[in-house]
Amino acid sequence: RSVKVFAPATVANVVCGYDVLGFAVNQPGDEVIMRFTDTKGITISKITGDDGKLPLNPAKNTVSASVQHYLNHIGKPDTGIDIELHKKMPIGSGLGSSSASTVAGLFAINTLFDNLLTNRALVPFAMKGEELACGYGHADNVAPALMGGFVLIRSYEPLDIISLPFPEDLHAAIVYPEVDVPTKDARQMIRSKVFLKDAVTQWGNVAGLVSGLFMKDYDLIGRSMTDILVEPTRSILIPDFSVMKSIAMENGAIGFGISGSGPSVFSLTRDADTATKITQKLQQHLKGIAINSLAFVSEV
Ligand code: HSE
Repeated sequence: RSVKVFAPATVANVVCGYDVLGFAVNQPGDEVIMRFTDTKGITISKITGDDGKLPLNPAKNTVSASVQHYLNHIGKPDTGIDIELHKKMPIGSGLGSSSASTVAGLFAINTLFDNLLTNRALVPFAMKGEELACGYGHADNVAPALMGGFVLIRSYEPLDIISLPFPEDLHAAIVYPEVDVPTKDARQMIRSKVFLKDAVTQWGNVAGLVSGLFMKDYDLIGRSMTDILVEPTRSILIPDFSVMKSIAMENGAIGFGISGSGPSVFSLTRDADTATKITQKLQQHLKGIAINSLAFVSEV
């Protein structure tokens, strides 16, 4: 018996909600094919689409490592499992690439075990994969990839994850400028201490964004998509970030910011046409400064 699972890319942080907010998109995403084997333990028989970047060693690969945690948890640590991973999205892009693979793997193993656990209960296992990938088990990619839609991580200890409502017509315009920004480095560059007055501004915006989603108030969503803590530092790694922001806002974005740890940027829009127009304008700009890019338009 084998299963084939797709898990989607995700936009973490959503500008002001560092490590606490994220949403899933329809595409891109990764695919995992998994089957039981007669031998003991996990093997990774194939990885495609990674340019040889990902480890085939099951102890080092985020997919197999989190599947092993799952098997230990259900008391079947020696189960023979074969994994094929087909990466269909760029690595180190800020689109939750490791998370998409890990989540596809966990969904697959849980399916092979007849859905022993709920999707929400898989989140801690997926966080182990993130820990391996970037040194910290943040949940703002894996939780939306598993649960879909907009997700809030209200607390990490204990884990408290809330699915948020959001306006139906919300779309995301994502552009990935092809420069490499590893999440581990992009996390290390952030200041670990903040001033109280800055924290006040930030949590005002997080509350504003969540309220805007509930109230379907696009203007409130837009003016809450401001980040004074993380974006000023990380945006330095992204080519022409402020120019791209102006272009997106002039072309109808509700708000604009870094997707996850970057270098991808995203805009929220009210419809697919606006999202498409923004991606075209941004790609055109990046081409003008000799940067290749990929673009994705998706419903939230
Ligand atoms: N919240 C994480 C970060 C997401 O910003 O580092 C990484 O995709």
